[in-house]
Amino acid sequence: MVRLDEKVINEVRNKADIAEIIGHYIPLIKKGKNLTAVCPFHDDHNPSLSISNDKQIYKCFVCGNGGNVFTFVQNYEKVSFVEAVKKVAEFYNIDIGIDNDDLQDDRYDEKTKHYFKVLNEAIAFLQYQLTTVNSKNVLDYLHDRGYDDDIIKTFKIGFDPDKYALSKFLLAKGYHEGDLIKLNLSKNYDDQVQDVFSERITFPIFDRFGSPIAFTARTMIKDLQPKYVNSTETPLFTKGNTLYNVHAAFEHIRKEHSVYIVEGVTDVIALYKAKKKNVIATLGTALSKQQVQMIKQLTSNVILCYDGDIAGQNANYKNGQILNDAFINVTVVNNDTNNDPDDIIKKEGVDRLNQILDDRLTWIEFVMNHLAKDHDLNNYSQKKDYAICVLKQIASLKDEFDRNAFINRLSILTGFDVTMLKGTINKDQRKISIKKTRKEDYEDKITSGRLRAEYEILAQMLSSPDACDYFVESIGYLPTASNNHLAMLILDYLRRHEQFIIADFISYIDDEMLKDLTLNVLNWEHLAKSYNKEVLFDANNKIKVSLIDEQISELKKKQRMTSSNSKKQEITNEILSLKRKRNSIQTCIMEENK
Ligand code: UTP
Ligand code: MN
Repeated sequence: MVRLDEKVINEVRNKADIAEIIGHYIPLIKKGKNLTAVCPFHDDHNPSLSISNDKQIYKCFVCGNGGNVFTFVQNYEKVSFVEAVKKVAEFYNIDIGIDNDDLQDDRYDEKTKHYFKVLNEAIAFLQYQLTTVNSKNVLDYLHDRGYDDDIIKTFKIGFDPDKYALSKFLLAKGYHEGDLIKLNLSKNYDDQVQDVFSERITFPIFDRFGSPIAFTARTMIKDLQPKYVNSTETPLFTKGNTLYNVHAAFEHIRKEHSVYIVEGVTDVIALYKAKKKNVIATLGTALSKQQVQMIKQLTSNVILCYDGDIAGQNANYKNGQILNDAFINVTVVNNDTNNDPDDIIKKEGVDRLNQILDDRLTWIEFVMNHLAKDHDLNNYSQKKDYAICVLKQIASLKDEFDRNAFINRLSILTGFDVTMLKGTINKDQRKISIKKTRKEDYEDKITSGRLRAEYEILAQMLSSPDACDYFVESIGYLPTASNNHLAMLILDYLRRHEQFIIADFISYIDDEMLKDLTLNVLNWEHLAKSYNKEVLFDANNKIKVSLIDEQISELKKKQRMTSSNSKKQEITNEILSLKRKRNSIQTCIMEENK
C-alpha cells in the first residue's frame, strides 16, 4: 500500500485551489461570489454543483456528490486517494515522491497483477512472431494496409502463427494452463491446450490505465467468419465495460474536449493516421450503459463516427439517442461515402478522411437527414411519424433558439404548421426532458424543529472554535445519533489539529454519511456560518423543549394504556412538572430574545 505523509497531503492541499482544479476539468460559471458548474456526476443540465472558494470544497445539490479538491479528482478520474493527490500535486509541480509503478502496484490485487504479467508476455511473444521469416506474408499484408512500423509498434500488433505457438510458449515459461484458459488465451480441445487466436493478427486491448486485459484478433484467411474474434469474458475483461484505445486517447480527449467513437480497431488506427488521437472504439456497434458512464467521465462531447454503410448509420442513430439522453453533446461525422474510415484512407487518402472527419452534423441535423432516408415525406402517416421522431430529439435541445430554428426547418420540410409543432413539443416532450433540479427543492428537505436546531449548532461548530467551546460547556450532546457523532468528530479533530481547516476535516471523516451531512450543513444557506451565541442558545433550548415534548407524548401514551387510576394520576403529575420545565425554558428563550 502506498501511504502518504499527512504533511505532504496538507502541502498539496494548501497549494491547490479547488476552483482552478475543477475548472481544469469542466467549465465553471460565476454566480455572484460563488462558482457553479454543471455536475459531472449525474445527468445534470443545470449548474447544480457549487464550489466554495473560502472553504475549498464543492457540493452538488442534486446528486449529493461533494468534498474537497482530492475528492473531486478521485470521483472525476475514478482514481484512488493517493492518485488524486499525485495528480493535484503534478498540476502545481510538487513532487510527492511516488511514481507510477507504485500506483499500479496499489491499484490491483496480486492475482490481477499476475494476469497482467501473463498477458504482457503474450503480447511480446505475438509481436515477436510478426518479425520472423515465417510471418512475412502477414507483415506484407499489414504494410499493404498502410500500417507502418510505428503503427505496428504503437498498437502492439502481433500474430499467432499456429494452433499451439502461444500456449506452448507460455506453458514453457512456467505459467499455469488454468490461468491461460481463464484469460482466454488458450482453450482445451481434443484433450490438448490450443491457442484461441491461432492464425490471427492480434490487437491487445488495455484498460484505462494501460494494463493489458484482452485481445481482439483478425483472421488472415479471406472470407473466414467470424472476421474478428474478441476475448470472451474473463476476470479482467467484459466487452461492455471496455472502450478500445481509451488509455492512449485519454489525454487527447481531455485536451480536445471531445472524443471520436468508431466501430473497430482499424478505424481507430485510421483516425490515428489522420492525427486524430482522441478516438475510442466500441468494437462493434453495441453501446452499453457502463460504456456511456465511462464516456461521460471522459468528456461531454462525443463525435460519432460509425461506418458509412447502413449498419453504421443506424448505429450512429441508435447510440446517438442513448448518448443524447445521457446529456452528452452529440455530433455526427457527415460520412456519406458508404465506407468506414479505414476504407476512406485506402481509396481516397488521409486528407480526404480528415476533411470528412471535420465535416460534422449537429445531432438534430443528423436525425433529420437520417430519418428522411427511410420515411416517404409524400405519404401523410410516414411524414407524421417522421415529424414526431424529429420533435422528440428537438425537445432535448437546451437552447431555445436552436429549438425554434429546427422546428422551423421541420415545418418547411413537412409542411406542418410551426405553431402546431411547437404546441406538440410543449405539451408532451419538454415535460419529459426537463427535470426539476432546483436547489430550493433540495433545501426543502430540511425539517424544522429539533433537527433544524441541531443543524444550526453543527453549522457553527464547523465554522468557529468559539461555537465548539460553547457546545462543550453548555450543550454537551445532540440527540440525533449521526449529528452527535459529527459534533464529536469536530471536537476530536480540534484536539488533534491546531487549526480547523474544513477541506482537511472532510478527508478526516471516514463515514460517507457523515461526510455528506457535513457538506449539507455547510451549504444550507439559511444556517448561520459564524459564531452567534444567541442562535446557539436558542437552538439548545429548542432541543431541550423538543425532548420534553417527546417525553410528554410518551407519558400520554402510557397513561392511555394503564387502567390504574393512581398510576394515571402519577403520570399527570409527571406531565405537569415537565410542562413547567418546558415553560421555564420557553420564557428563557423569550427573555433572551427581548
Ligand atoms: P467491420 O466488419 O466493419 O470490420 O467490423 P473492419 O473494422 O472494417 O475490419 P477490416 O477493415 O476488414 O479489417 C467493425 C468491428 O466490428 C467488430 C470488430 O470489432 C470490428 O473491428 N466485429 C466485426 C466483430 O467483433 N466480429 C466480426 O466478425 C466482425
Ligand atoms: Mn474496414
